[in-house]
Amino acid sequence: MTQFLFVTDLDNTLVGDDAALEQLNQHLSQHRQTYDTKIVYSTGRSLTLYQELTSEHTLLEPDILIASVGTEIYLNGSQTPDQSWSDQLAVGWDREVIVATTAHFSDLVPQPETEQCPFKVSFFLTEEAAIPVLSVLKTVLMKRGLSIQLIYSTGKDLDILPRRANKGLAMSFVRQNLGFEPSQTVACGDSGNDIALFSLNEAHGIIVGNAHPELLTWHREHPSETRYLAKSHCAAGILEGLQYFNFLQ
Ligand code: GLC
Ligand code: MG
Repeated sequence: MTQFLFVTDLDNTLVGDDAALEQLNQHLSQHRQTYDTKIVYSTGRSLTLYQELTSEHTLLEPDILIASVGTEIYLNGSQTPDQSWSDQLAVGWDREVIVATTAHFSDLVPQPETEQCPFKVSFFLTEEAAIPVLSVLKTVLMKRGLSIQLIYSTGKDLDILPRRANKGLAMSFVRQNLGFEPSQTVACGDSGNDIALFSLNEAHGIIVGNAHPELLTWHREHPSETRYLAKSHCAAGILEGLQYFNFLQ
């Protein structure tokens, strides 16, 4: 057994089965103590909603928190996002133009204020409306000269982010800063915003058994030997994958 960098999504990946979570927590906290393994949470939630989740479930204190779909990186328990990361995201990003443009799309229902972040504009969008709306919206925003990406998750959430930020790019930033090789890194997820964790091919991947169709479809279309689709759900699926890759016994 050796040190590794553990990166995981929270909702319906790490969190979702409290008994399995407790078991995984024991393995991870022991591994961190013995081998200095690093634990990184990568969530779509803002810091506010992340804190809400920690009051509802027993989560280990992460070494690093990546929040708001990769647009905010909180190092070592800090309450302020890392400035060097934020600075990179401002290029080609204009929040006001995005908000004004999206106001013309009646299918886009704004998410609560807590989830509207400096580098993330989020909506609810039904699955039926998603296909036509996403392609038109992308074209319109690109025409405005914006450097953005659209990320659709769990058949209901749409995030508009700077091109330079998503869960994968944030993981890459953190991985390089901590000095881990891709071969010592593992990322876990269940939905659309986690595709970026896997698509860079900079980590072993674990997809939990309860993953959403949007991620499963992508996984089937982009097979990789370093990505494992677990049979078990949530934390039990993570444990299954960590054992499959021999990160844990
Ligand atoms: C979380 C966030 C939400 C986002 C979703 C998908 O639920 O709170 O704003 O749209 O993740 O990334
Ligand atoms: Mg999730």
